[in-house]
Amino acid sequence: MARITAGVGSSHVPLLGVAVDQGKTGDDYFGPIFAGYEWTRQWQATEKPDVVILVYNDHASAFDARIIPTFAIGCGDHYRPADEGWGPRPVPDVEGHADLGWHIAQSLILDDFDMTIINEMDVDHGLTVPLSMMFGTAERWPVKVVPIIVNVVTYPVPSGNRCWALGEAIARAVRSFPEDLNVQIWGTGGMSHQLQGARAGLINPAWDNNFLDGMIGESDRLRHVPHIEYLRETGSEGIEMVMWLIMRGALGARTRCLHRHYHVPCSNTAIGHIVLEPLE
Ligand code: DHB
Ligand code: FE
Repeated sequence: MARITAGVGSSHVPLLGVAVDQGKTGDDYFGPIFAGYEWTRQWQATEKPDVVILVYNDHASAFDARIIPTFAIGCGDHYRPADEGWGPRPVPDVEGHADLGWHIAQSLILDDFDMTIINEMDVDHGLTVPLSMMFGTAERWPVKVVPIIVNVVTYPVPSGNRCWALGEAIARAVRSFPEDLNVQIWGTGGMSHQLQGARAGLINPAWDNNFLDGMIGESDRLRHVPHIEYLRETGSEGIEMVMWLIMRGALGARTRCLHRHYHVPCSNTAIGHIVLEPLE
């Protein structure tokens, strides 16, 4: 039987991909950011997950204003890094898990979540930067990936409550997959950031840390945070954090924190990272 053994939250700031690709992860600026992921890289080497359900948002690389799926699932077995304007990142292609992807799609749709099914797409920094943060440079990524894509770019975006419920449904889907698989779920994006307009550069460490606190233990208070609070407190792009709630929802009633990291600045944003274990 497949089982979700851990949840990981992480920012996906594109500049961190550049730092990895240009060998700058140990310099004065990037050193403290990457140091906070060292624990996780070592932990991943012993955990050896088979598959990561990677919840992320596309940034107009695979989708644009013509097609805006609220929730989509990658059911292909191969994804290429997207060209985001500077050429594709020099990282390995991403291997999918088509059987698990289709199983989750079926389970979610019969569970009343009307997922868009994606067989072919390129994947941008939202997906490849978290892989780089968790696994460093690699000839081949050590996991297969089932991408879950969430629209957090164009309003209306899904509520935190709906994201949490989707996570619960993903956990049910994984539990009913017959193959013995060690599955992790990652929620990516955030933390507070605004990339444009009068409040560009907004960062709110108090709110972000309160959000990290809320991921731990038994509380489900985060599922009820309204969009307007993300906008007001965390800037226009802070809404990416609803994707962490899909991960949190999939971990069940109670979690334990294995590792936590928060650092400002990282490009124009605050970077946050958490590793959670589900408790019965
Ligand atoms: C930036 C872009 C992102 O998508 C994000 O989540 C954080 C930062 C950026 O361009 O700096
Ligand atoms: Fe983003």
